[in-house]
Amino acid sequence: MIIVRQAYSITIVGAGSSRTPALVGSIVDYKERFPLKQVVFFDINNDRMSKMDDYIRLVLAQEMPDTEVIFTTDKAVAYQQADAVLVQMRAGDTHMRSLDEKIPLQFGLVGQETCGPGGFAYGMRSIGAMVEMVHDIRAVNEDAWILNYTNPAAIVALALHKIFPNDKRLLNLCDQPYSMMRSYAKILDVPQESLRATYFGLNHFGWFTDIYDTDGNSHFDVLKAFLKDNEFKPYNAEQRSASWLETYKRVNKYLQFFPEYLPNTYLQYYFFPEEIVAESNPTYTRADEAKDSREKEVFELCAQAVGRDTLGNLEILTGSVFGNLMIEIAESILHDLNNEFVIMVPNNGLIPNFPQEAIVELAGRLGSNGPVCKPYGDIKPFYKGLMEGQYAYELLTVESWIERDYTKALQALTLNRSVVDPQKAKAVLDALMEVNKPYWTLEMK
Ligand code: G6P
Ligand code: MN
Repeated sequence: MIIVRQAYSITIVGAGSSRTPALVGSIVDYKERFPLKQVVFFDINNDRMSKMDDYIRLVLAQEMPDTEVIFTTDKAVAYQQADAVLVQMRAGDTHMRSLDEKIPLQFGLVGQETCGPGGFAYGMRSIGAMVEMVHDIRAVNEDAWILNYTNPAAIVALALHKIFPNDKRLLNLCDQPYSMMRSYAKILDVPQESLRATYFGLNHFGWFTDIYDTDGNSHFDVLKAFLKDNEFKPYNAEQRSASWLETYKRVNKYLQFFPEYLPNTYLQYYFFPEEIVAESNPTYTRADEAKDSREKEVFELCAQAVGRDTLGNLEILTGSVFGNLMIEIAESILHDLNNEFVIMVPNNGLIPNFPQEAIVELAGRLGSNGPVCKPYGDIKPFYKGLMEGQYAYELLTVESWIERDYTKALQALTLNRSVVDPQKAKAVLDALMEVNKPYWTLEMK
Protein backbone atom coordinates (compact mmCIF):
# COMPACT_ATOMS: atom_id res chain seq x y z
CA MET A 1 0.00 0.00 0.00
CA ILE A 2 1.30 3.44 -0.86
CA ILE A 3 0.78 5.92 1.94
CA VAL A 4 0.13 9.37 0.55
CA ARG A 5 1.11 12.00 3.05
CA GLN A 6 -1.02 15.05 3.66
CA ALA A 7 0.12 18.13 1.72
CA TYR A 8 0.74 21.31 3.70
CA SER A 9 1.20 24.99 3.05
CA ILE A 10 4.44 26.72 4.03
CA THR A 11 5.64 30.31 3.92
CA ILE A 12 9.26 31.43 3.63
CA VAL A 13 9.93 34.77 5.34
CA GLY A 14 13.06 36.53 4.12
CA ALA A 15 12.67 34.88 0.72
CA GLY A 16 15.03 37.47 -0.79
CA SER A 17 17.95 35.62 0.83
CA SER A 18 20.45 34.11 -1.56
CA ARG A 19 19.92 30.87 0.39
CA THR A 20 16.33 30.59 -0.87
CA PRO A 21 17.05 28.80 -4.19
CA ALA A 22 18.90 26.06 -2.28
CA LEU A 23 15.99 25.83 0.16
CA VAL A 24 13.75 25.33 -2.86
CA GLY A 25 16.12 22.54 -3.92
CA SER A 26 15.47 20.88 -0.57
CA ILE A 27 11.71 21.34 -0.97
CA VAL A 28 12.05 19.49 -4.29
CA ASP A 29 14.27 16.77 -2.82
CA TYR A 30 11.79 16.07 -0.03
CA LYS A 31 8.61 16.39 -2.11
CA GLU A 32 7.52 12.76 -1.63
CA ARG A 33 8.15 12.78 2.13
CA PHE A 34 6.90 16.32 2.61
CA PRO A 35 4.36 17.17 -0.12
CA LEU A 36 3.24 20.77 -0.32
CA LYS A 37 0.04 22.22 -1.69
CA GLN A 38 1.31 25.79 -1.45
CA VAL A 39 4.63 27.60 -1.02
CA VAL A 40 4.50 31.33 -0.32
CA PHE A 41 7.66 33.41 -0.69
CA PHE A 42 7.52 36.61 1.34
CA ASP A 43 10.00 39.45 1.67
CA ILE A 44 9.65 43.14 2.41
CA ASN A 45 12.39 43.75 -0.17
CA ASN A 46 10.90 42.85 -3.53
CA ASP A 47 14.07 43.93 -5.36
CA ARG A 48 16.06 41.04 -3.91
CA MET A 49 13.24 38.53 -4.22
CA SER A 50 12.50 39.46 -7.83
CA LYS A 51 16.08 38.57 -8.82
CA MET A 52 15.26 34.94 -8.00
CA ASP A 53 11.52 34.50 -8.52
CA ASP A 54 11.64 33.44 -12.20
CA TYR A 55 14.18 30.73 -11.44
CA ILE A 56 12.25 29.49 -8.39
CA ARG A 57 8.96 29.45 -10.33
CA LEU A 58 10.53 27.38 -13.12
CA VAL A 59 12.10 24.88 -10.69
CA LEU A 60 8.80 24.36 -8.89
CA ALA A 61 6.73 24.29 -12.09
CA GLN A 62 8.95 21.50 -13.42
CA GLU A 63 9.34 19.48 -10.23
CA MET A 64 6.10 20.13 -8.34
CA PRO A 65 3.52 21.25 -10.92
CA ASP A 66 0.58 20.75 -8.54
CA THR A 67 1.99 23.08 -5.88
CA GLU A 68 0.69 26.63 -5.82
CA VAL A 69 3.55 29.13 -5.77
CA ILE A 70 3.07 32.70 -4.56
CA PHE A 71 5.54 35.57 -4.26
CA THR A 72 4.28 38.42 -2.15
CA THR A 73 5.20 41.48 -0.11
CA ASP A 74 1.76 41.45 1.56
CA LYS A 75 1.82 40.13 5.13
CA ALA A 76 -1.76 38.91 5.20
CA VAL A 77 -1.27 36.90 2.01
CA ALA A 78 1.96 35.53 3.42
CA TYR A 79 0.62 34.33 6.76
CA GLN A 80 -3.07 33.50 6.40
CA GLN A 81 -2.90 29.95 5.09
CA ALA A 82 0.45 28.72 6.34
CA ASP A 83 0.77 25.55 8.39
CA ALA A 84 4.40 26.47 9.02
CA VAL A 85 6.24 29.76 8.58
CA LEU A 86 9.98 29.27 7.99
CA VAL A 87 11.78 32.46 8.94
CA GLN A 88 15.24 33.44 7.73
CA MET A 89 15.09 37.24 7.72
CA ARG A 90 18.07 39.55 7.97
CA ALA A 91 17.03 42.87 9.51
CA GLY A 92 19.16 45.55 7.86
CA ASP A 93 20.19 43.32 4.96
CA THR A 94 23.82 42.52 4.06
CA HIS A 95 24.70 46.20 4.28
CA MET A 96 24.17 46.12 8.05
CA ARG A 97 25.85 42.70 8.33
CA SER A 98 28.91 44.28 6.82
CA LEU A 99 28.89 47.07 9.44
CA ASP A 100 28.32 44.54 12.25
CA GLU A 101 31.50 42.82 11.14
CA LYS A 102 33.64 45.86 10.30
CA ILE A 103 32.93 48.27 13.16
CA PRO A 104 34.17 45.95 15.96
CA LEU A 105 37.37 45.33 14.00
CA GLN A 106 38.08 49.08 14.13
CA PHE A 107 38.37 48.65 17.89
CA GLY A 108 40.42 45.47 17.72
CA LEU A 109 37.39 43.32 18.54
CA VAL A 110 35.97 40.23 16.81
CA GLY A 111 33.82 41.21 13.80
CA GLN A 112 31.21 38.48 13.43
CA GLU A 113 27.51 38.51 12.57
CA THR A 114 26.27 36.48 15.57
CA CYS A 115 29.06 36.60 18.18
CA GLY A 116 30.59 39.58 19.97
CA PRO A 117 29.56 43.21 19.37
CA GLY A 118 28.38 42.53 15.82
CA GLY A 119 26.03 39.86 17.12
CA PHE A 120 24.81 42.29 19.76
CA ALA A 121 23.96 44.96 17.15
CA TYR A 122 22.32 42.40 14.87
CA GLY A 123 20.42 40.94 17.82
CA MET A 124 18.99 44.34 18.69
CA ARG A 125 17.77 44.72 15.08
CA SER A 126 16.40 41.21 14.87
CA ILE A 127 14.37 41.40 18.09
CA GLY A 128 12.31 44.34 16.81
CA ALA A 129 11.67 42.79 13.42
CA MET A 130 10.84 39.37 14.87
CA VAL A 131 8.44 40.70 17.52
CA GLU A 132 6.57 42.58 14.80
CA MET A 133 6.48 39.46 12.65
CA VAL A 134 5.08 37.23 15.39
CA HIS A 135 2.31 39.80 16.04
CA ASP A 136 1.57 39.96 12.31
CA ILE A 137 1.36 36.18 12.00
CA ARG A 138 -0.79 35.70 15.07
CA ALA A 139 -3.17 38.47 13.93
CA VAL A 140 -4.27 36.28 11.02
CA ASN A 141 -3.13 32.76 11.91
CA GLU A 142 -3.16 31.33 15.43
CA ASP A 143 -2.08 27.81 14.56
CA ALA A 144 0.87 28.14 12.21
CA TRP A 145 4.20 26.82 13.46
CA ILE A 146 6.75 29.63 13.45
CA LEU A 147 10.11 27.99 12.78
CA ASN A 148 12.71 30.68 13.17
CA TYR A 149 16.27 30.57 11.84
CA THR A 150 16.84 34.31 12.11
CA ASN A 151 20.08 35.19 13.85
CA PRO A 152 21.49 35.70 16.36
CA ALA A 153 19.15 32.88 17.33
CA ALA A 154 20.26 32.84 20.98
CA ILE A 155 19.18 36.43 21.51
CA VAL A 156 16.08 36.20 19.33
CA ALA A 157 14.94 33.04 21.16
CA LEU A 158 15.36 34.60 24.57
CA ALA A 159 13.54 37.79 23.56
CA LEU A 160 10.63 35.96 21.93
CA HIS A 161 10.28 33.67 24.92
CA LYS A 162 10.07 36.70 27.22
CA ILE A 163 7.60 38.56 25.01
CA PHE A 164 5.44 35.61 23.90
CA PRO A 165 5.80 33.19 26.84
CA ASN A 166 2.62 31.30 26.03
CA ASP A 167 3.14 30.80 22.32
CA LYS A 168 3.66 27.06 22.07
CA ARG A 169 4.15 27.00 18.31
CA LEU A 170 7.20 29.21 18.17
CA LEU A 171 10.57 27.50 17.84
CA ASN A 172 14.07 28.85 17.23
CA LEU A 173 16.56 26.67 15.41
CA CYS A 174 20.09 26.55 14.07
CA ASP A 175 21.71 24.36 11.46
CA GLN A 176 25.26 24.43 12.80
CA PRO A 177 25.13 21.29 15.01
CA TYR A 178 23.39 19.45 12.14
CA SER A 179 25.99 20.75 9.70
CA MET A 180 28.84 19.64 11.96
CA MET A 181 27.23 16.20 12.28
CA ARG A 182 27.22 15.90 8.52
CA SER A 183 30.96 16.54 8.60
CA TYR A 184 31.40 13.95 11.37
CA ALA A 185 29.43 11.46 9.27
CA LYS A 186 31.82 12.02 6.38
CA ILE A 187 34.86 11.49 8.61
CA LEU A 188 33.33 8.33 10.11
CA ASP A 189 32.15 7.23 6.67
CA VAL A 190 28.61 6.53 7.84
CA PRO A 191 25.29 8.03 6.67
CA GLN A 192 24.30 11.18 8.56
CA GLU A 193 20.86 9.64 9.24
CA SER A 194 22.54 7.00 11.42
CA LEU A 195 24.20 9.51 13.77
CA ARG A 196 22.80 10.98 16.97
CA ALA A 197 24.33 13.52 19.33
CA THR A 198 24.48 14.36 22.96
CA TYR A 199 24.97 18.10 23.08
CA PHE A 200 24.57 20.96 25.53
CA GLY A 201 25.03 24.71 25.47
CA LEU A 202 23.52 27.96 24.38
CA ASN A 203 23.04 28.62 20.67
CA HIS A 204 26.43 29.13 18.94
CA PHE A 205 27.98 28.34 22.33
CA GLY A 206 27.84 24.61 22.96
CA TRP A 207 29.58 21.25 22.94
CA PHE A 208 29.02 17.74 21.63
CA THR A 209 29.58 15.30 24.48
CA ASP A 210 28.84 12.17 22.46
CA ILE A 211 28.26 11.07 18.88
CA TYR A 212 26.68 7.65 18.58
CA ASP A 213 24.74 5.65 16.03
CA THR A 214 21.19 4.39 16.02
CA ASP A 215 22.46 0.98 17.21
CA GLY A 216 23.83 2.68 20.31
CA ASN A 217 27.56 2.51 19.47
CA SER A 218 29.53 5.60 20.41
CA HIS A 219 31.93 7.01 17.79
CA PHE A 220 33.06 9.86 19.98
CA ASP A 221 36.53 8.63 20.90
CA VAL A 222 37.29 7.67 17.30
CA LEU A 223 36.19 11.09 16.16
CA LYS A 224 38.23 12.91 18.78
CA ALA A 225 41.28 10.80 18.02
CA PHE A 226 40.87 11.65 14.32
CA LEU A 227 40.54 15.37 15.05
CA LYS A 228 43.62 15.30 17.26
CA ASP A 229 45.80 14.46 14.26
CA ASN A 230 43.79 15.53 11.23
CA GLU A 231 42.42 18.83 10.01
CA PHE A 232 38.68 19.19 10.62
CA LYS A 233 37.11 19.96 7.26
CA PRO A 234 33.45 20.71 6.59
CA TYR A 235 31.79 17.93 4.56
CA ASN A 236 31.60 20.32 1.59
CA ALA A 237 35.09 21.82 1.95
CA GLU A 238 35.49 22.31 -1.82
CA GLN A 239 32.54 24.70 -1.83
CA ARG A 240 33.48 26.61 1.31
CA SER A 241 35.23 29.97 1.42
CA ALA A 242 38.56 30.44 3.15
CA SER A 243 37.12 31.86 6.37
CA TRP A 244 34.88 28.83 6.94
CA LEU A 245 37.83 26.45 6.44
CA GLU A 246 39.80 28.41 9.05
CA THR A 247 36.79 28.24 11.37
CA TYR A 248 36.66 24.46 11.19
CA LYS A 249 40.42 24.23 11.69
CA ARG A 250 40.14 26.07 14.98
CA VAL A 251 38.20 23.13 16.39
CA ASN A 252 41.51 21.23 16.12
CA LYS A 253 43.22 24.05 17.95
CA TYR A 254 40.60 24.14 20.72
CA LEU A 255 41.06 20.39 21.26
CA GLN A 256 44.76 20.92 21.99
CA PHE A 257 43.72 22.79 25.13
CA PHE A 258 40.43 21.14 26.06
CA PRO A 259 40.07 17.69 24.53
CA GLU A 260 37.05 16.60 26.60
CA TYR A 261 34.18 17.61 24.31
CA LEU A 262 33.85 18.70 20.67
CA PRO A 263 33.15 22.45 20.52
CA ASN A 264 30.66 24.17 18.25
CA THR A 265 32.73 26.08 15.68
CA TYR A 266 31.31 29.39 16.97
CA LEU A 267 33.20 28.97 20.25
CA GLN A 268 36.34 30.04 18.39
CA TYR A 269 35.32 33.69 18.74
CA TYR A 270 35.33 33.42 22.53
CA PHE A 271 38.46 31.27 22.88
CA PHE A 272 40.76 32.81 20.29
CA PRO A 273 39.50 36.39 19.79
CA GLU A 274 42.92 38.00 19.47
CA GLU A 275 44.13 35.57 16.85
CA ILE A 276 40.91 35.97 14.89
CA VAL A 277 41.11 39.76 14.96
CA ALA A 278 44.75 39.62 13.82
CA GLU A 279 43.76 37.42 10.86
CA SER A 280 40.71 39.51 9.89
CA ASN A 281 40.76 42.05 7.11
CA PRO A 282 38.86 45.09 8.43
CA THR A 283 37.80 46.09 4.92
CA TYR A 284 36.84 42.63 3.61
CA THR A 285 34.82 40.44 5.97
CA ARG A 286 32.52 37.42 5.71
CA ALA A 287 29.70 39.65 4.38
CA ASP A 288 31.90 40.56 1.39
CA GLU A 289 33.06 36.99 0.97
CA ALA A 290 29.44 35.71 0.97
CA LYS A 291 28.46 38.39 -1.54
CA ASP A 292 31.34 37.54 -3.86
CA SER A 293 30.77 33.78 -3.66
CA ARG A 294 27.34 32.38 -2.77
CA GLU A 295 25.32 35.47 -3.64
CA LYS A 296 27.10 36.03 -6.93
CA GLU A 297 26.73 32.40 -8.03
CA VAL A 298 23.08 32.23 -7.04
CA PHE A 299 22.15 35.53 -8.65
CA GLU A 300 23.98 34.58 -11.86
CA LEU A 301 22.13 31.28 -12.05
CA CYS A 302 18.80 33.00 -11.38
CA ALA A 303 19.50 35.69 -13.98
CA GLN A 304 19.68 32.97 -16.62
CA ALA A 305 16.09 31.99 -15.84
CA VAL A 306 14.64 35.41 -16.64
CA GLY A 307 12.38 35.30 -19.68
CA ARG A 308 12.48 31.50 -20.02
CA ASP A 309 9.40 29.27 -20.21
CA THR A 310 11.12 26.15 -18.92
CA LEU A 311 14.06 25.44 -16.67
CA GLY A 312 15.89 23.71 -19.52
CA ASN A 313 19.46 22.86 -18.60
CA LEU A 314 19.62 25.17 -15.59
CA GLU A 315 20.86 23.42 -12.46
CA ILE A 316 18.62 22.79 -9.45
CA LEU A 317 20.58 23.65 -6.31
CA THR A 318 20.15 20.72 -3.95
CA GLY A 319 21.92 19.27 -0.95
CA SER A 320 22.11 22.40 1.21
CA VAL A 321 22.35 21.55 4.89
CA PHE A 322 20.41 24.65 5.80
CA GLY A 323 17.57 23.85 3.40
CA ASN A 324 17.45 20.18 4.31
CA LEU A 325 17.29 20.92 8.02
CA MET A 326 14.49 23.47 7.55
CA ILE A 327 12.41 20.96 5.65
CA GLU A 328 13.20 18.01 7.95
CA ILE A 329 12.19 20.06 10.99
CA ALA A 330 8.89 21.16 9.41
CA GLU A 331 8.26 17.58 8.27
CA SER A 332 8.95 16.12 11.72
CA ILE A 333 6.51 18.55 13.37
CA LEU A 334 3.68 18.60 10.84
CA HIS A 335 3.75 14.83 10.29
CA ASP A 336 4.37 14.16 14.00
CA LEU A 337 7.46 12.06 13.32
CA ASN A 338 9.28 12.89 16.57
CA ASN A 339 12.64 12.83 14.83
CA GLU A 340 15.70 13.87 16.78
CA PHE A 341 17.61 17.11 16.29
CA VAL A 342 19.69 19.53 18.32
CA ILE A 343 17.16 22.22 19.26
CA MET A 344 16.65 25.29 21.45
CA VAL A 345 14.25 25.06 24.39
CA PRO A 346 13.66 26.80 27.74
CA ASN A 347 15.89 25.06 30.28
CA ASN A 348 13.19 24.25 32.90
CA GLY A 349 15.31 21.72 34.73
CA LEU A 350 16.94 19.99 31.75
CA ILE A 351 20.27 21.30 33.06
CA PRO A 352 19.49 21.50 36.80
CA ASN A 353 22.51 23.62 37.77
CA PHE A 354 21.88 26.30 35.13
CA PRO A 355 19.34 29.20 35.18
CA GLN A 356 15.90 27.70 34.58
CA GLU A 357 14.66 30.49 32.31
CA ALA A 358 17.66 30.33 29.95
CA ILE A 359 17.14 29.00 26.43
CA VAL A 360 19.48 26.04 26.09
CA GLU A 361 20.45 23.93 23.10
CA LEU A 362 20.12 20.17 23.56
CA ALA A 363 19.24 17.02 21.66
CA GLY A 364 15.50 16.50 21.51
CA ARG A 365 12.57 15.22 19.51
CA LEU A 366 10.15 17.29 17.45
CA GLY A 367 6.55 16.25 16.91
CA SER A 368 3.14 17.85 16.66
CA ASN A 369 3.20 18.72 20.37
CA GLY A 370 6.47 20.56 19.98
CA PRO A 371 9.93 19.83 21.35
CA VAL A 372 10.76 17.21 23.97
CA CYS A 373 14.39 17.26 25.09
CA LYS A 374 16.23 14.60 27.01
CA PRO A 375 17.25 15.97 30.42
CA TYR A 376 20.98 16.58 30.25
CA GLY A 377 21.93 16.70 33.93
CA ASP A 378 24.36 19.01 35.70
CA ILE A 379 27.19 20.58 33.75
CA LYS A 380 30.78 20.84 34.98
CA PRO A 381 32.23 24.10 36.42
CA PHE A 382 34.29 25.08 33.34
CA TYR A 383 31.31 24.95 30.98
CA LYS A 384 28.91 26.31 33.56
CA GLY A 385 31.14 29.33 34.13
CA LEU A 386 31.45 30.02 30.43
CA MET A 387 27.74 29.60 29.80
CA GLU A 388 26.68 31.72 32.75
CA GLY A 389 28.75 34.64 31.47
CA GLN A 390 27.33 34.21 27.98
CA TYR A 391 23.78 33.84 29.25
CA ALA A 392 24.12 37.02 31.32
CA TYR A 393 25.34 38.78 28.15
CA GLU A 394 22.29 37.50 26.21
CA LEU A 395 19.85 38.40 28.98
CA LEU A 396 21.23 41.92 29.40
CA THR A 397 21.08 42.40 25.64
CA VAL A 398 17.40 41.46 25.58
CA GLU A 399 16.65 43.61 28.63
CA SER A 400 18.51 46.56 27.13
CA TRP A 401 16.32 46.25 24.03
CA ILE A 402 13.08 46.04 26.01
CA GLU A 403 14.01 48.90 28.36
CA ARG A 404 16.16 50.83 25.85
CA ASP A 405 18.76 50.87 28.59
CA TYR A 406 22.28 51.95 27.60
CA THR A 407 23.84 50.76 30.87
CA LYS A 408 22.54 47.23 30.41
CA ALA A 409 23.91 47.19 26.88
CA LEU A 410 27.31 48.28 28.19
CA GLN A 411 27.18 45.58 30.86
CA ALA A 412 26.21 43.02 28.23
CA LEU A 413 29.16 43.82 25.98
CA THR A 414 31.58 43.91 28.92
CA LEU A 415 30.45 40.41 29.87
CA ASN A 416 31.00 39.12 26.35
CA ARG A 417 34.21 37.07 26.36
CA SER A 418 35.23 38.53 23.02
CA VAL A 419 35.22 42.06 24.54
CA VAL A 420 35.86 42.11 28.34
CA ASP A 421 37.37 45.64 28.54
CA PRO A 422 34.62 48.20 29.39
CA GLN A 423 36.47 50.96 27.55
CA LYS A 424 36.38 48.97 24.36
CA ALA A 425 32.79 47.92 25.09
CA LYS A 426 31.74 51.58 25.34
CA ALA A 427 33.61 52.66 22.23
CA VAL A 428 32.17 49.89 20.09
CA LEU A 429 28.67 50.29 21.55
CA ASP A 430 28.64 54.00 20.71
CA ALA A 431 29.83 53.36 17.17
CA LEU A 432 27.28 50.59 16.60
CA MET A 433 24.49 52.66 18.10
CA GLU A 434 25.25 55.49 15.68
CA VAL A 435 24.77 53.40 12.54
CA ASN A 436 21.82 51.45 13.99
CA LYS A 437 19.66 54.53 14.71
CA PRO A 438 16.98 53.47 12.23
CA TYR A 439 16.64 50.16 14.12
CA TRP A 440 17.31 50.72 17.81
CA THR A 441 18.24 53.46 20.26
CA LEU A 442 19.28 53.42 23.92
CA GLU A 443 19.06 55.93 26.74
CA MET A 444 21.08 56.56 29.86
CA LYS A 445 18.78 55.57 32.76
C1 G6P B 1 25.81 28.71 9.98
C2 G6P B 1 25.07 29.18 11.19
C3 G6P B 1 24.05 30.19 10.84
C4 G6P B 1 24.69 31.33 10.07
C5 G6P B 1 25.46 30.82 8.88
C6 G6P B 1 26.25 31.95 8.24
O1 G6P B 1 24.97 28.01 9.13
O2 G6P B 1 24.45 28.16 11.90
O3 G6P B 1 23.47 30.66 12.01
O4 G6P B 1 23.73 32.23 9.63
O5 G6P B 1 26.34 29.81 9.26
O6 G6P B 1 26.74 31.56 7.04
P1 G6P B 1 27.40 32.56 5.99
O7 G6P B 1 27.82 31.63 4.93
O8 G6P B 1 26.34 33.54 5.58
O9 G6P B 1 28.54 33.21 6.69
MN1 MN C 1 23.17 29.21 13.59
